[in-house]
Amino acid sequence: MSVPGGRAAGRSKPELALRFARPGDRPGLMRLGHPPPVARILAPSAGQRFLWAAAGTRSMALVAEESGSLVGSVHFVRSMRDAATWMFGHWRVAPSLRRRGIGSQLMREGVRRIGSVERLYSYVEDGNEASLAAHRRLGFEAAPTFEGTIGLGALSTLGPPAPALRLEPVDRRDWGTLLPLYAAANGALWLRLFPRSVVVLRLLAEIGGRDAVRPLPRVLLLPMASVLRVEVPGRPPAGFVVRSGSQMTLYCDPAGCSTSILARTALQLLALGVPREETIGLVGLPADLASRARSIQARRLMALPDARHLRS
Ligand SMILES: CC(C)(COP(=O)(O)OP(=O)(O)OC[C@H]1O[C@@H](n2cnc3c(N)ncnc32)[C@H](O)[C@@H]1OP(=O)(O)O)[C@@H](O)C(=O)NCCC(=O)NCCS
Repeated sequence: MSVPGGRAAGRSKPELALRFARPGDRPGLMRLGHPPPVARILAPSAGQRFLWAAAGTRSMALVAEESGSLVGSVHFVRSMRDAATWMFGHWRVAPSLRRRGIGSQLMREGVRRIGSVERLYSYVEDGNEASLAAHRRLGFEAAPTFEGTIGLGALSTLGPPAPALRLEPVDRRDWGTLLPLYAAANGALWLRLFPRSVVVLRLLAEIGGRDAVRPLPRVLLLPMASVLRVEVPGRPPAGFVVRSGSQMTLYCDPAGCSTSILARTALQLLALGVPREETIGLVGLPADLASRARSIQARRLMALPDARHLRS
């Protein structure tokens, strides 16, 4: 597709072409600021594309080209959990050409070409105001809470280590407790992106809390998982930790989440033998905690639960 480039009046407007990325675009993508591994993901070889397709991954990158140079990119990946929900990233426009509508055109054209996108989301690093504004302009909503990642050792020093807290294995009887916690940690916006994600949690709860701190093998592409409830004596559960494959995530109830709960949970995981260097994902961080605790790499979910208007 070619569209007149630029909004600036009074000078000749170069043509802007929007098209899918191809392997020959890698040098141009690197000049745009993408590291080489990212350029290879955005513009994969035919063999790589075949392997992804065989594994069920659908991924498309769109580029914007002006006067023979790549000036913008965006990458869409279909969710494995829900075929109508897509994530996007690597959304970038050459610095000198920003605020000319290229970023918005890339998004709209991508959604039009892929066709099956009904819901769309991405994550924005804390403090990236230009990106937040560009998302909002397209209709995206910001989640009220943050997600983050941090090493377990660093998390254990984030707040005071007292009073005591316990990690308890869960089983299917805990389903009624985990569901509201999961919903609170992820927020209503996430559940609108994944109306069926509740099924995933049920599966996790049924697998139960065995071997919660050891990486477990993957069986038939289904990650074996285990769940531990975060119990603060005298209070409702503060969250739960999911260990799935080599990934570990703490889902916190944002209403009760504090640096001391995070630190004490980390100390319990260390006591169970999880290495200090291991990274843990945090979901449901209150905004003030995320901005205070600078050692957490925080990012905000931006979601468009109905993306169909971008096609028109
Ligand atoms: C985010 C990005 C891709 C947007 O691309 P862009 O071509 O500049 O976006 P557009 O021109 O389509 O902007 C659309 C709207 O977003 C808003 N917007 C974009 N940049 C903005 C800024 N710096 N300040 C305030 N609002 C901004 C405006 O409402 C703008 O419309 P307007 O110019 O008519 O007021 C670009 O800023 C970028 O490459 N940033 C660096 C990489 C990055 O952070 N990517 C996102 C990672 S999540």
